[in-house]
Amino acid sequence: MLIQIEDVVSPEEAAQYRAALEAAEWVDGRTTAGYQSALAKDNQQLPTDHPLAVQLGDRIVAALERHPLFMSAALPLKVFPPLFNRYHGGQSFGTHVDNAIRGIPGGPRIRTDLSATLFLTNPAEYEGGELIIEDTYGTHSVKLPAGHMVLYPATSLHRVEPVRRGARVSSFFWIQSMIRGDQHRSLLLELDMAVQRLTAESPRHPAVVSLTGVYHNLIRMWAEM
Ligand code: NI
Repeated sequence: MLIQIEDVVSPEEAAQYRAALEAAEWVDGRTTAGYQSALAKDNQQLPTDHPLAVQLGDRIVAALERHPLFMSAALPLKVFPPLFNRYHGGQSFGTHVDNAIRGIPGGPRIRTDLSATLFLTNPAEYEGGELIIEDTYGTHSVKLPAGHMVLYPATSLHRVEPVRRGARVSSFFWIQSMIRGDQHRSLLLELDMAVQRLTAESPRHPAVVSLTGVYHNLIRMWAEM
């Protein structure tokens, strides 16, 4: 399931992040790529231990923890500290799949169940740079307003189209979910949304308690910690 998470950060905050990032020293993005993706990758990145990456990354993770749709859709166990990249002057990232396991520097390893891209540049400010994601339903082209994020199964092949004008700055990272399978997570999200709708429309309906119980019992059955 591919899902848009709107307003992870406000447009003003995204502009602040971008201004700070534009002033930072970027390095070749191939430094964090695996063997296959290094061949396809042509972009810039902030070094993983750069103080600005750490500071903004912490703010993004804190914002996500307050975002109900992110929490329902990802059911996160561990979030990789957000990284930052920049594409300009025709740079692109050819079709690849993200590494299955990533070590958090100085921390545990995570299984990458979900990939996330938080857009920090408004679409009007650059040409190209679409994130193209292939899944069982076909090919999706994603280019979101600054502050919005796309969350998609890390099993998907994906690429970033060449940025032909301007610069595209984003944050990207991975999530290990308590619920490993994308189909299971999708069912839980759909059930959660339906329970919330029913609760809003008819809070005393006995089905609310029953369905809430089903939701939690499915998590109990499927969750890995
Ligand atoms: Ni990727």
